[in-house]
Amino acid sequence: MIDLIERLTGTFGPAGSEGKIRALLCEEVGKLNHNYFVDTLGNLVVTVGGRSGKKILTAAHMDEIGLMVTFIDENGFLRFTNIGGVLKETLLGTRVVFENGIVGIIGREKIKEAKNFDLNKLYIDIGAKDRNEAQKMVRIGSPAVFYTPFNRLGDRIVAKTLDNRIGCAVLLEVLKRLPSSLPNEVYFVFTVQEEVGLRGARTVSYRLEPDYGLAVDVTRVGDTPEPDYKMEVSLGKGPAVKIKDSSVICHPQVIQLMIETAETNNIPYQLEVLEKGGTDAGAIHLSKEGIRSGALSIPCRYVHSPGEMVDLNDVENGVSLLLELLKKNW
Ligand code: CO
Ligand code: ZN
Repeated sequence: MIDLIERLTGTFGPAGSEGKIRALLCEEVGKLNHNYFVDTLGNLVVTVGGRSGKKILTAAHMDEIGLMVTFIDENGFLRFTNIGGVLKETLLGTRVVFENGIVGIIGREKIKEAKNFDLNKLYIDIGAKDRNEAQKMVRIGSPAVFYTPFNRLGDRIVAKTLDNRIGCAVLLEVLKRLPSSLPNEVYFVFTVQEEVGLRGARTVSYRLEPDYGLAVDVTRVGDTPEPDYKMEVSLGKGPAVKIKDSSVICHPQVIQLMIETAETNNIPYQLEVLEKGGTDAGAIHLSKEGIRSGALSIPCRYVHSPGEMVDLNDVENGVSLLLELLKKNW
């Protein structure tokens, strides 16, 4: 599974430009002999199980945060805007890569007062000598993502975009391990444009009309020195059952089912209240007349930075929990 995670995190796919990551996911899904299709916005939908029973939509977003070129100056430096929740303090000195493989390094102008530090003080240097040369390499609107290595640190891994390629890896692994028959019809959906407002999840849940929704994504943790928010979730103590975040208050029936399933199968789990942040369940639960929804979260440090960290035990336990959940009657 670790090779798969490395390939997923190393593949380009900012919100709105998911072509490469979707191609990799289609290739992986194609090996498994399940039916799948790609919808209008680019969500990848894999359908499993019979036509009887409940319809369950489980969603992991395939997109990542990124940067987009807004202006190229006469000396060839690129100004940019954010795609999704980019943290400006993580950018200085970070390398980025464009879809065509062009690499850049982020520099900044002189700043007199720290409070004036903003994205508009930063630029991307792609080594171009002037505007003309830069325009041959990128254009206005070209998106870029972080260009940082994948490392294994014992039980933990650090890489870019574990948010949410780790969720994609969990869905793929569950697809591989599914028993031959399931009590429910399950849609495994790899969504687009989550990072800019849960957009792919919105249209796909409207189309599929599921009875239940379950997002698989990362959550923040409270186990690092002086975190921004006090929080119970730690790395390595199990996947988290989401109770609430900024986008959704999870349905009590789904929460209860997740907790019961974890306990009866001796899978460690944690309860998550995320004060700032959202996930696809936020869009799914508001679809049509409302859909009972919840979320399974993989604890992750340094979310939205160039180096995010998860614990492989949480990933493995997340796979077990989702697998056991899908075997149950909802
Ligand atoms: Co995110
Ligand atoms: Zn996410």
